[in-house]
This record gives sequence, structure tokens and C-alpha cells, in this order.
Amino acid sequence: MTDLLPATDILHAETPHIETSEEIAARLAASPPLLVAENLDVTYVTEAGEVPACRNVNLTLHRGEILGVAGESASGKSTLLNALARLQRPPAITSGGKVTFYPTDDSDPMEISSMSEEELRERRWTSLSFVMQSAMACLNPVIRLESQFTDVIREHDPEVSKEDASKKAGELLEMVGIPAHRLKAFPFQLSGGMQQRALIALSLACDPDVVFMDEPTTAVDVIMQRQILSQILHLQARLGFAIVFVTHDLSLLLEISDRIVIMYGGRFVEVGSAEQIYESGLHPYTRGLRSSFPPLSEPVRKLHGIPGTPPDLLGLPVGCAFAPRCPRATQLCLEERRN
Ligand SMILES: Nc1ncnc2c1ncn2[C@@H]1O[C@H](COP(=O)(O)OP(=O)(O)OP(=O)(O)O)[C@@H](O)[C@H]1O
Ligand SMILES: [Mg+2]
Repeated sequence: MTDLLPATDILHAETPHIETSEEIAARLAASPPLLVAENLDVTYVTEAGEVPACRNVNLTLHRGEILGVAGESASGKSTLLNALARLQRPPAITSGGKVTFYPTDDSDPMEISSMSEEELRERRWTSLSFVMQSAMACLNPVIRLESQFTDVIREHDPEVSKEDASKKAGELLEMVGIPAHRLKAFPFQLSGGMQQRALIALSLACDPDVVFMDEPTTAVDVIMQRQILSQILHLQARLGFAIVFVTHDLSLLLEISDRIVIMYGGRFVEVGSAEQIYESGLHPYTRGLRSSFPPLSEPVRKLHGIPGTPPDLLGLPVGCAFAPRCPRATQLCLEERRN
């Protein structure tokens, strides 16, 4: 801990004006699309059957947008993120629809699932970057941070000298509150929080257009989580990349997101600004989820969990997947699905 530089807490202190839902919508509308998912279906093809982990997803992520994805365990958050980031691996397949990536360098749009290995290598880190839950799954524990950073930087820009790449790597580490001299460390020598920060720094090494973050802070303690989030937001405000942030923690997303997607049973239940989701979430699942988490910036109120458990995707009901747990379900909800 003593090795950490102070983090700037911008979650509240530096927010001069909290945008209204209308202002957020206008800002996003003025920003070109970066990723567009149309009728996206993702299926896990397993021996037990085809698991419909993502269904009928329609979404436009804009340049510079912070999109939060919330939902209970097994709602399909990681499945969606992997499909958007082209991190999808068997047995997952895109079984319907498509995701189109619109590069910020104004080259031709490309369909994510049909990108060649070469296109993917070119775009990985430079356009589509990611931070996963476990930094150690992404960092090689026995290669010094310096080599891992300079390799990524020089692979995408061979003109950069080793010295310059190393200097940039040091600056990146400092940006996330780790002193540059720790470049000489092996990842296994760092604390969990520092590993996570190092991975965030690495994800930004090639100025990406979007960083996909799947539960990037769940493996660290609450104080560290807040520091890391502050730094992510600080960097995002400075560098302007888009973020797709996945977590089951809705109260956290309410603080950081331009828009929030609520997922249940592999489908979008609701999409809206934090204000819309918090003040006037329409779906009973959204309301249930909202009442399950303490607000970060308001007095603690009584929390109510959602009774019951998430659905078995191999045996989904015909109607709304939430209906069996829903206090407001009607006969129609049991018979018909609206989303
Ligand atoms: N490799 C796999 N093979 C078969 N089914 C899978 C596989 N990975 C995920 N699933 C199923 O797909 C559904 C969605 O899983 P996913 O991991 O996307 O959920 P999640 O919302 O990210 O959950 P969590 O909050 O626990 O990370 C779940 O029912 C899960 O069991
Ligand atoms: Mg997940």
C-alpha cells in the first residue's frame, strides 16, 4: 500500500455538474457509434443442450460512452461483453445477428465475428482493449511488467524505440498510481490491487477506442475498488475512450455510467441513464435489483433482496423469464415475452 501514489477521488468531488438524462442523451446522440449490436444471439453449444445466454440484443455504444451492464449472476453479462469484444471462445457461438465495429480512424466498419486473426491482432489493445476480473489471467506472472508493456507498445508501433516504450510504460503505471520503478517487478510481486491497476494501465497502452471491463474491481477490497474506479474515470475523462463496464453491483454503475443496461436471463430488461434506472426504472426486476444494493452516496436504507434464484437457461418459461419471481406478474407475463 505504501507504494501507491494518491488517487484522485473524482466520483463526487470533481463532478461540477451532474448531467440530466436529456443532456446525456443529447451528448451521446452527437457522438458517432463505435459498436452496434443488432439482434445479437449468443449460444453455448453444450452436451446438455444449447444455452441461450444472450438473446436479441440491440445496442449502440457511442464513442466516449461509459456503458454499465448489471444483472445477477448468470444473466449473460460476460457472455455479452465477450461477444462485443471479440473475446468469445467455444463453446460460445454467435448464433444470430451481428456486432459492427466503427473504427475511429474512419477506416471501413467491420463485423466483429468475421474479423480475421490479423485484423484482430491489429485491433487488440489499439481499438478493442480489456480488463478482466483476474489480472493474473491476463498478465504473465513471470515476465517483468516492463517487458509486457513494451512488447504491447512496440508490437503495434514498431517505430517506437525500447527506451521510449519503457518511458511510456512508466508513465502509464504512474497514471494508475504505481511508481514507474515498479516496471522492474514481476506481476506476482504486486498486491492484487496493484495487479489490477497495472492491467488497467496496460489496457490503455495503445490509446484504445473502447476498454471492456468485466468485474475489474471485484477481486480487491472496497477502498482499493474506489481508488481504482476513480482513476479509471479520471483517465476516461482525459483520454476519451469508451468503457463497457460489467458488474452485478448496480449502485456502483449508477455512479459512473452514462447509460446502464439491466440484463436478466440473457436478455435486456431495461436500458436507461442512471437517473432513469434509479428514479423511474420500469421493470420489476430493475426495481428489485435497485433495492438490493445500498446507494453509494445517500443514507443507507433498508435493503430488500430479490427472492428466488435466476432461471435455468435450458428451461426458460415461455413468457417473461422473471415472471416466476416477480411480485407483479400477471397472466400475460407468464404467457408472453415483450423483449
Ligand atoms: N462455457 C460455458 N458453457 C456453457 N454455459 C456457459 C458457459 N459460460 C457461461 N455459460 C452460461 O451462460 C449463462 C450466462 O453466463 P455469464 O457468465 O455470461 O453470466 P454473468 O452475468 O457474467 O454471471 P456472473 O455475474 O456470475 O459473472 C449462464 O447460464 C452460464 O451458466
Ligand atoms: Mg460474468
